[in-house]
Amino acid sequence: MPVKRRPLVVANWKMNGTIEESSGLAREIASQVIADKGLVDCDVLICPPAYLLNVIWEAIQDSGIFLGGQDCHPAVHGAYTGDHSAEMLSDAGCQYVILGHSERRNGYGESDNLICKKVLAAFRALLVPIICVGETESERNSGRASNIVEKQLINSLPKTLKSSSAVIAYEPVWAIGSGRTPTLDEISHMHAFIRATIKQYFPSESENIRLLYGGSVNEINSATLRGIDDVDGVLVGGASLSAKSFLPITQVFASDKRRL
Ligand code: PGA
Repeated sequence: MPVKRRPLVVANWKMNGTIEESSGLAREIASQVIADKGLVDCDVLICPPAYLLNVIWEAIQDSGIFLGGQDCHPAVHGAYTGDHSAEMLSDAGCQYVILGHSERRNGYGESDNLICKKVLAAFRALLVPIICVGETESERNSGRASNIVEKQLINSLPKTLKSSSAVIAYEPVWAIGSGRTPTLDEISHMHAFIRATIKQYFPSESENIRLLYGGSVNEINSATLRGIDDVDGVLVGGASLSAKSFLPITQVFASDKRRL
């Protein structure tokens, strides 16, 4: 009997949006999610820039939509200018935090080791980390995509990983914001590989952990992505910045009765 995993559709707004634009967008998404109840039977998560957390928290009240951060510091508090802790995200109403996004790995030199510490910080604050992994284009072209992803998984996942308290997102770096995606076979192969790697290191967690795909997801390709067995949801950047393009993606995953 196949394991049913509840779909998760994540809006990663990155560094976009004013207070007015973002609260309007969140309200639009929230009212449609409320109207779709019964149809929209999947978890929907919005990860706004940190300065908007409070505004978005208010906008999504009573909608069932989750709130998440885009990063956190490993420490609880201290002299870390510009950072915020997992506890602060939790205090702001977050249930999730994206960690190890390639824009942080590449833009800020974040190592697997640092990401592992951040994952532990998320566990400490009872946040669910969404741990991102993915290869660059040259790594894929040189046939090393699986090796790179395996190394990222082994080194960024703490030994205390539990499927109920973590999510993995496969995001090939070259697919992010580019309008290009791997073939369905490539995504299917990589997700099966990720699940098999998790099984090797965390045998009791592998069937239940949710694996997301991210990188140029839109309302058209989401229907095909949904059909891949090991894809339990999506991490959406550009297409999450408008309700018109984001809501159809939530509806595609919500209607996937195989997973509920
Ligand atoms: P994209 O971004 O959907 O704009 O490609 C995805 C991400 O970086 O999480």
